[in-house]
Amino acid sequence: MKTYKIALLAGDGIGPEVMKQAVKVLKAVEARNPEVAFELNEALFGAVAYFETGKSFPAETIAICDEADAILKGTIGLNHEDSKKIPVDEQPERGALLPLRRRYNTYANFRPVYLPQELAHFSPLKPEVIGDGIDLMIIRELVGGLYFGEKEVGKDDNGKRYVREVLEYDEDQIRDILKVGFETAQRRKKVMHNIHKSNVLKSSVLWNEILEEVAVDYPDVEVKHILVDAAATYLCLNPGQFDVMVMENMFGDILSDQGGGILGSLGLMPSACVGPEKSYYEPSHGSAPDIAGKNIANPYSMIGSVALMLEMSFGMEQEAKNLWHAMKSVFANGYGTPDLAKGEDAKLIDTDAFGDMVVDELNKAPRA
Ligand code: IPM
Ligand code: MG
Repeated sequence: MKTYKIALLAGDGIGPEVMKQAVKVLKAVEARNPEVAFELNEALFGAVAYFETGKSFPAETIAICDEADAILKGTIGLNHEDSKKIPVDEQPERGALLPLRRRYNTYANFRPVYLPQELAHFSPLKPEVIGDGIDLMIIRELVGGLYFGEKEVGKDDNGKRYVREVLEYDEDQIRDILKVGFETAQRRKKVMHNIHKSNVLKSSVLWNEILEEVAVDYPDVEVKHILVDAAATYLCLNPGQFDVMVMENMFGDILSDQGGGILGSLGLMPSACVGPEKSYYEPSHGSAPDIAGKNIANPYSMIGSVALMLEMSFGMEQEAKNLWHAMKSVFANGYGTPDLAKGEDAKLIDTDAFGDMVVDELNKAPRA
């Protein structure tokens, strides 16, 4: 029997309601796999933690995460107005999420943009653009660049307000994420799109230089270079040309949300944030305060993050496949949460029902 400790950081907004579905699924997986047990440890994280403890990533939560084999995070953040009730540096994004990423050096962020036939009708793209479906992997560097560079806000000698934010990468950081890109490409279609902006940014010039060096070790992978702005266009016009796309932090933030756009909802964007020793898993979307507590949020990104955790942290590849299949089946049967189920014959279900149906579908797969 193998016991995995999982830290559960439900967070703010829709976080708790989608996390509830993740827990349902984990219990089902546990019941189906007698050799595996999950020890689930809930901890406060985000605005909810700030209001309770004065810190959005409190020491008790850090301790629970340190102890965990993997971390499952819901969503964090408040709406624009409520955010102002928290000092800038304790606001959940700056005070909790970035420190979490930094603490475990989760530099490799995998964001699958996956639109199999069962989900194709959700996409705003035309069927002829979608073709056989979309299946690409955005690999985003997650602990460098503008997000983590030095920041300065002040007034110049003339009394004008200014801001300065540094975009910094050293060659090791670039090499590490590019290796992840190449290795992922080797496991998939052996093509990697390198997303950059070397016509303007020196950071991209260095990035591309390192890429030439790293590429020598991966002769079987074909590298295609594309400027980030053009990549945004082609994601809409011809997403099928992409398989693995590798890029720095900020580019990845933006293009991965666009990935959600071409799928039809950010509710279809799970992610894995992988570090050398510890990884955490989270939906790519925000906390959607406008729909929080209504039981209408789409838990696919959250449950998909569980599937990624099973595969990448616990080596439970078959069960992860079963879980993806279970989620697809719910859609194939015509059901969907309100972000997706539109039109007259849409079979609308709520967050809880989605979680229940995924468990029912999962239990149709043979047990371990
Ligand atoms: C994401 C989110 C975060 C980011 C926010 C919440 C800080 O948008 O994970 O993509 O920008 O990285
Ligand atoms: Mg984002």
